[in-house]
Amino acid sequence: MKNALAWRYATQKYDPTKKVSEEDMQEILEAINSAPTSYGLQPFKLIRVKSDELRKQLRAASYDQSPVTDASDLIIFTVNRNMDSEHIDSYMKRIVEVRQVEREKLSRFEQNIAGVLGTLSSAELIAWNTKQAYIGLGFGLVMAAHLGIDSTPMEGFQKEKYDEILELKDDHAVLVLTFGYRSGEDHTQHHRKVRKTLEQLVTIK
Ligand SMILES: Cc1cc2nc3c(=O)[nH]c(=O)nc-3n(C[C@H](O)[C@H](O)[C@H](O)COP(=O)(O)O)c2cc1C
Repeated sequence: MKNALAWRYATQKYDPTKKVSEEDMQEILEAINSAPTSYGLQPFKLIRVKSDELRKQLRAASYDQSPVTDASDLIIFTVNRNMDSEHIDSYMKRIVEVRQVEREKLSRFEQNIAGVLGTLSSAELIAWNTKQAYIGLGFGLVMAAHLGIDSTPMEGFQKEKYDEILELKDDHAVLVLTFGYRSGEDHTQHHRKVRKTLEQLVTIK
């Protein structure tokens, strides 16, 4: 794992002829889906954009960053603009389904979630939901590296434009993650990683 993390980098130029297998993509999607989230609510969704035409439009809304069209696969993390009771309800139903518990046993948990999230404005809720999406992003990055697949996390794009292009109404695009294989011409692959030393990162008290 240590080697995989040293090997990965935010790929700037992909080889557009190399495709990630569907099997590997499924593993990456499963990894994202297995990320922990606050309350387990998973308040984000993924859009896999396969249409070349859409990817062209999205690239224009991403400051012309080439991974948007040239990577093998592109996913967009979206979050809910509002947390309606329907969303919490569907989570409760899923718990009942998976754990075979009685719905009534979950009512305090359900009220707790609704109580906390109900106090947030739409902007605060988007921020809270987006924090959860970043955890998924991290899991996707690590799984891709583990599989020897290159990736690029991106927040350098016009989010409202993305919403328009993808015709999102209740949802809002917050993150892009591309997957594929690096081009030999991508010089950034040779750059040494710049990170804090552990002494700079960690304080012991
Ligand atoms: C949330 C997030 C957003 C990022 N957005 C972009 C982006 O829009 N375009 C880009 O080329 N790199 C983007 N990066 C990549 C970072 O610049 C890169 O991860 C950082 O410089 C560390 O380098 P490394 O990942 O190659 O080790 C983003 C990274 C993260 C985690």
